[in-house]
Amino acid sequence: MSSILTSLGRTVLAGFVLLILIIFALGGNFSSPELPFVFRWLHVMFGVMWIGLLWYFNFVQIPSMPKIPDEQKPAIGKVIAPTALFWFRYAALFTVITGLIVAGLNGYLHQAFTLQSPFRAIGLGMWIALVMAINVWFIIWPNQKRALGIVTVDADAKAKSARIAMMTSRINTILSVPMLFLMVAQSHNTTWFVIIS
Ligand code: HEM
Repeated sequence: MSSILTSLGRTVLAGFVLLILIIFALGGNFSSPELPFVFRWLHVMFGVMWIGLLWYFNFVQIPSMPKIPDEQKPAIGKVIAPTALFWFRYAALFTVITGLIVAGLNGYLHQAFTLQSPFRAIGLGMWIALVMAINVWFIIWPNQKRALGIVTVDADAKAKSARIAMMTSRINTILSVPMLFLMVAQSHNTTWFVIIS
């Protein structure tokens, strides 16, 4: 057991093996591929990783930085933040890709993007999440590279970039609230969803 838990790769693999065992234990089988469902599940997993890291930055890392002594700050700036940002931006990318695949496989990609009934909720959620992903790749990441010293700039530009990255991350935190509501509303028919659909 400890040989599994001491390796991240084997730990994640164990999660997938456990899932397969649970499916068989519940009498399930893999006779039909059910691609839309598989991609919806992958989509939610990538989405959880993306938004989980967004909330980690906003709820944990940013508020903690002023409390960390200067000589210890490089541990965050040089080690933890770059790793978190790597998983953050690729989770964002794969959330978008799998989300688009789900909408495509279900045949409503165009109706959703053009906000046609009854796909207005998911369409709006997709637009909001797309803006968030664009923020990640084209605003947060380039500014974080300057703020963390991955790209060398002068002190003024560094401070300005750190602020832009932080503010954009805050905007994404605001957007994550309605975005997640709209994501889950599409297939769960809340009364509120009927109003917006
Ligand atoms: C541009 C990015 C995104 C696109 C194109 C997209 C697209 C979709 C689509 C098409 C569905 C299926 C809706 C349905 O038919 O029931 C869905 C569901 C969902 N998405 Fe997204 N999504 C995006 C971003 C996100 C993000 C960032 C999250 C964060 C966790 C997320 C979480 C979910 C959840 C939880 C569901 C509900 C699954 C269910 O109720 O069964 N999505 N998304």
